[in-house]
Amino acid sequence: MKLRIYKIADTEEIMKLFYDTVHEVNIHDYTQEQIDAWAPANMDIDVWIKGLGSKFTYVAEEGKIIGFGELEANGHIDRFYCHKDFQRQGIGKKILEQLESKANSLGIKKLFTEASITAKPFFESHHFIVVKQQEVERRGQKLINFIMEKSIE
Ligand SMILES: CC(C)(COP(=O)(O)OP(=O)(O)OC[C@H]1O[C@@H](n2cnc3c(N)ncnc32)[C@H](O)[C@@H]1OP(=O)(O)O)[C@@H](O)C(=O)NCCC(=O)NCCS
Repeated sequence: MKLRIYKIADTEEIMKLFYDTVHEVNIHDYTQEQIDAWAPANMDIDVWIKGLGSKFTYVAEEGKIIGFGELEANGHIDRFYCHKDFQRQGIGKKILEQLESKANSLGIKKLFTEASITAKPFFESHHFIVVKQQEVERRGQKLINFIMEKSIE
């Protein structure tokens, strides 16, 4: 598996990965209505290019894209998804290690994220702690997630 920086040509594949993972993996923890609001069918590629390109975005690749993760300069881990067919194979761990290493090089002292119910055990296993449970609204649906953080000094 190779880890590299995101490039614009990855965008469509990443969007499909995101859509498929939310619809086939996160569906175990959220309702269909919540899933459709989280990952709608009509996502705008220009919005994605802007979002992915404005962060430190890393892509895991093995013949095809099997995961991606976004780090912001303030330590925020934004989107973080592995391919639906490559869950629990250590890909997320590798991407997170890359984000942590980048954060270290940027002098970031604390990482934080809004973890889904699905991703909470993953972040816990990497020593993130829950700061608070919250409800966020997406396209009229309320979804539970967890603000989690980890000091990396
Ligand atoms: C969260 C996610 C990115 C983790 O990636 P992953 O490649 O599946 O995770 P890893 O294989 O690297 O897991 C590393 C460790 O985390 C823990 N872990 C991961 N998923 C877990 C789960 N569902 N339950 C319990 N522990 C889990 C385990 O300790 C695991 O080590 P082990 O498999 O040796 O026991 C992935 O599950 C995913 O795509 N989830 C759906 C999308 C999502 O919710 N993303 C976050 C949005 S906020």
